[in-house]
Amino acid sequence: MSEKPWGGRFSEKTDRIVESFTSSINIDKRLYPYDIEGSIAHCKMLAEVSIITEEEASSLIQGLEKIRREIERGKFQFDDSLEDIHMHIESTLLQNVGKVAQKLHTARSRNDQVVLDVRMYLKNETLKIMHGLAKLKKVILAFARDHVDTILPGYTHLQRAQPVLLAHHMMAYYEMFLRDSERFGDSLKRINVMPLGSAALAGTTYPIDRAYTAKLLDFPEISRNSIDSVSDRDFIIEFLSTASICMVHFSRLSEELILWSSSEFGFIELPDSFATGSSIMPQKKNPDVPELIRGKTGIVFGNLMALLSIMKSLPLAYNRDMQEDKRPLFDTVDILTACITICAAMIPKLKINKEAMRMATCKGFLNATDMADYLVIRGIPFRQAHDCVGKAVIYAKDNNKELHELTLKELKTFSSLIKKDVFNILKTEQMINRRKSFGGTAKENVMAAIKEAEKNLEI
Ligand code: ARG
Repeated sequence: MSEKPWGGRFSEKTDRIVESFTSSINIDKRLYPYDIEGSIAHCKMLAEVSIITEEEASSLIQGLEKIRREIERGKFQFDDSLEDIHMHIESTLLQNVGKVAQKLHTARSRNDQVVLDVRMYLKNETLKIMHGLAKLKKVILAFARDHVDTILPGYTHLQRAQPVLLAHHMMAYYEMFLRDSERFGDSLKRINVMPLGSAALAGTTYPIDRAYTAKLLDFPEISRNSIDSVSDRDFIIEFLSTASICMVHFSRLSEELILWSSSEFGFIELPDSFATGSSIMPQKKNPDVPELIRGKTGIVFGNLMALLSIMKSLPLAYNRDMQEDKRPLFDTVDILTACITICAAMIPKLKINKEAMRMATCKGFLNATDMADYLVIRGIPFRQAHDCVGKAVIYAKDNNKELHELTLKELKTFSSLIKKDVFNILKTEQMINRRKSFGGTAKENVMAAIKEAEKNLEI
C-alpha cells in the first residue's frame, strides 16, 4: 500500500508545493460529521447487500465513531499531505481498525462522496438559516406591534413622499424575509437528493442498494443520472443566489439604519452595544454593524459570481475545479448566519425618535396627493387636480408655508371646490388611516397584516 490512497500508479512522491496547492483540508474539514455519517451509512449498506460482512461493518463503524470523537475533542491531526477530509478519515481509519479499512471505499468514489457531504451539510445549514429567519421575523413583528402609532415619512427617490406607519415600513422587511424563507424552503427539494452510488461518474458494478443508503441518511430521493450526480453543483449556486437575494434585503435595512441614525435624519439611535466610536473624534458613534452588513453583501454576491465562473463551461463530469466550491459556500453560510443573528439582536434595541420622525412628516408637502384626491372626489379629473395642487405647492413654498398652513381664502384661489373640510383631509393621521386599500398603510390594515403574519409564524 502506498502512502496515498491513490498512489498505486505513481512512482514519484508528490511535490510539497503541489501538496499544499491541491490540499483543501483547511476548508473542507468542517464537513467531517457528514463525511463520517455518510461513511457509516455506506458501510451498513455494503453489509446489507453482503459486499462486506456484518463484523467488518461493525468494526468500520466503531473506527469511524472513534475518529468523530477525536475530531470533536480536538485530538485529530490534520495534514496537507492527506489532501482533504475524506482521505484524512480513511487513512486514520486504517490506523484505527487495520486492513478492513481498505474495504470502506468499495463502490464509492470521492466524487460522489464529496457531493453527498456537501448536500448533507447544506441541508442542515439551510434548516438552521430558516430557523434563524423565523426568529428574525418574530422580532420584526414585535417591533411592528410597538410602532403601530409611530409615523414617519415614506420616501420615493429618497424624497419625502407620503406619511406611513413605522410598523408598515418594517412589515415590508417582514415580507422580504418571508420570501427568503420560502426560497430556502423550496431549494431544500433540490438539495435533498442522495448522490452516493454514482461512484466516479458511471455508477458501479457492485450490487449496491442506493435506496437503502438514502433511507439511512434521510434523503427522500436518489439522483437519477450518475454523471449529473457527480458534476452537479446547481444546488450550491441556488443557495448562493438565494443567500444573495436575502443579503440584498439585509443591505437595504442596513442602509436605512445608517441613514436614519445620521444627524441629518435623526430618526433612530443605535444601541451603544451595537455601535463603535472613533479613535480620533470623541463625539462619534458609528453604525459599523449595519455598515459591515452592507459591505459583506458584496462578498456574498462575489461568492455567487465565483461559483458561477468556476462551473461555467466545465466539461462533464467531475473536475478538480469543483473543489473550489466550498470556500464561497462556507463563507456565505457564515456571513448570512451572522447577519441574521445580529439583526435579530439589534432591532429590539433600536431607539426610535418618534418625535423626529413625526416632525419630518410635517414639512415637504407630504399631503399634496391627498389634496389632489380631495379635488377629484369633488368632480375634477386627476391630472387637472394634480396641476392645481402643484400651483398651490409653488405658492406655499414661496411664502414659506406648508399646504395646511395656507388660509382657506388662499387655497380657494387655486380651486373654488376647496372648502373648510380640506384641512381635516390634510392631517397626517387622516392621510394614513384613509389609505385603507388592501396592503395600504391605514392602521387597521397594518394591525390585520401583523395578526395574519403572527398566525402564520405559529404554524
Ligand atoms: N477534495 C475534492 C473536492 O472537494 C474531493 C473529490 C476529489 N476527487 C478527485 N477525483 N480528485 O472536490
